[in-house]
Amino acid sequence: MGPGPGADPSGAQGPTRVTPLGRVLVIIPTYNEAATLAPLIARLRTARPDCDVLVVDDDSPDGTGKIADEIAASDPAAHVLHRPGKEGLGAAYLAGFRWGLARDYDVLVEMDGDGSHQPEELSRLLTALRGADLAIGSRWVPGGRVVHWPRHRELLSRGGSRYSRLLLGLPLRDVTGGFRAFRRRVLEGGLLTEVASQGYCFQVDLAHRVVRAGYRVVEVPITFVERSEGDSKMSREIVFEALWRVTAWGVAARLRPGTFREGAPARHT
Ligand code: GDD
Ligand code: MN
Repeated sequence: MGPGPGADPSGAQGPTRVTPLGRVLVIIPTYNEAATLAPLIARLRTARPDCDVLVVDDDSPDGTGKIADEIAASDPAAHVLHRPGKEGLGAAYLAGFRWGLARDYDVLVEMDGDGSHQPEELSRLLTALRGADLAIGSRWVPGGRVVHWPRHRELLSRGGSRYSRLLLGLPLRDVTGGFRAFRRRVLEGGLLTEVASQGYCFQVDLAHRVVRAGYRVVEVPITFVERSEGDSKMSREIVFEALWRVTAWGVAARLRPGTFREGAPARHT
């Protein structure tokens, strides 16, 4: 597996090739987001009526899945994938990606269901994707910011990105962020079968593999607004999973020289 035909393995240094995007699917994983899901999808449909949406719900006890079903019943562009129980963000996205790939979507977007990612900023991601294979909404590039985040979350996120960047040699500022747009070729080549992470480490895992495969990755500044409803699913287990996996990848890469290589610096738009 590697960059598809037409991808530029030299990444950021190469000339930007602009290619049309095609059909876009926005995937929203949910676990107990009953208060925010409907207004979020309404904003998304207003901002980008041309994009379809897929909610991946893990049988939320608060009825989020039922709300999603009601939306899908009246909007042919909205779809729902029900999963039997909470299996983590990684598993939900893998299922969502497979659903979208099987239905021939050309672009697959990740977006949180709690309103932290602004649907009005999706266009910026999609514009950047015209010259790239993956566009990452980034809090930690110039112009990016977070609103209402407690100090400890900001430190955790910045620290997590910095640690991953150093250990894995990633040319990215926001390694854990979850507002991203992928071209299908990035996800269909077998890369998904290698991803093992369950929790939010999934985002690091995927970014790492995409960079290593030589795809063109750009970071786009976004404003991340901390949720005002419901609860974060971030947990101690999720942090530990990320810590041990990133450390293990970094050590393994150094023990097997040749498998570790610096990615080209990502372009910041
Ligand atoms: N289906 C499903 N299953 N959805 C889940 C699960 C799960 O096990 N865990 C979390 N989610 C959903 C939430 O319902 C929400 O829509 C989204 O994933 C993000 O979860 P939050 O709990 O709101 O994440 P956060 O704000 O603390 O997380 C931050 O870190 C994440 C990981 O890096 C943000 O920066 C996110 O953008 C980022 O993805
Ligand atoms: Mn959140």
